[in-house]
Amino acid sequence: MPTPRSLPAPPRVLSSGATAWFIAATFGQWAFVAFIVLFFGGPVLGGDLSPLNAKPHVTGYVPGDVVGNLQFVGHALLAGLVTFAGAWQLIPALRRRWPALHRWNGRVFLSVALVVTLTGFYLVWVRGSQLGPASNLSISLNGLLIVIFALLAWRSARRKDIATHRRHALRAYLLVNGVWFLRIGIMLTGLVLAPLGIKIDYTGAPFILVSFGSWLVPLAVLALYFHAERSPRTGVKVVMGTALWLLALLTAAGSAAAIAFMWWPVL
Ligand code: HEM
Repeated sequence: MPTPRSLPAPPRVLSSGATAWFIAATFGQWAFVAFIVLFFGGPVLGGDLSPLNAKPHVTGYVPGDVVGNLQFVGHALLAGLVTFAGAWQLIPALRRRWPALHRWNGRVFLSVALVVTLTGFYLVWVRGSQLGPASNLSISLNGLLIVIFALLAWRSARRKDIATHRRHALRAYLLVNGVWFLRIGIMLTGLVLAPLGIKIDYTGAPFILVSFGSWLVPLAVLALYFHAERSPRTGVKVVMGTALWLLALLTAAGSAAAIAFMWWPVL
């Protein structure tokens, strides 16, 4: 039976849901990048790193700790670069028109992701910037998976196995954005829990759940998306496409809340 003209064909619901989520995510990720550039850029250019201590839970500038300060600033600025670089890799028209750009930006993305992860490990396990045992475990597993999928994405690209490369690169993209998912996840959870009088602290159940969820949920949603893509059943595609539209709304709302309550107030 032909699809009525007013309704999009089912597979389009899936691809339009994916596009809607990607646009909402890019908006939120680039707002995070803008925050990083503004928050770290001024102090680094001005040579006075003390404003980096504006966030109470973050071990920012420690006088005398040259290596730790360098790792912290390098980690954050390169985190901005890798977050900015990631989105471009997912735009199909860009890959088709400028494949060389996709390859070079991909090399930048994957190598900077590895550097950001290694400096992250240094901050947690050598410098001792820790929010609690569960949070340390969650961010370390997130980091380990970044290394694994970045290397697998690289290897499959070199072997020209594009289907495998796509799967691993999308996983690496979501994992690299784990810390951004954590921030918008905390904002959304806070919006739900605050009216109930529940406060979020770093060792409490809500923070721990959102920490693990910040990389487990995106990987699970991606697995469901791959399943829907392969499935011959229209219903599966429609359900997944609709879920992605809802996730796009949540992502946009979480990003707007992060701008309003997390990033803007410390600038
Ligand atoms: C690759 C993706 C990552 C991005 C985009 C990223 C982003 C950032 C940013 C922007 C900051 C500055 C703090 C802030 O203003 O909120 C930061 C700090 C930090 N990051 Fe990452 N990060 C990533 C991966 C990691 C990993 C894998 C680890 C651990 C293994 C890690 C551990 C830390 C630590 C410990 C701090 C200092 C926070 C504190 O002192 O409490 N990061 N990160």
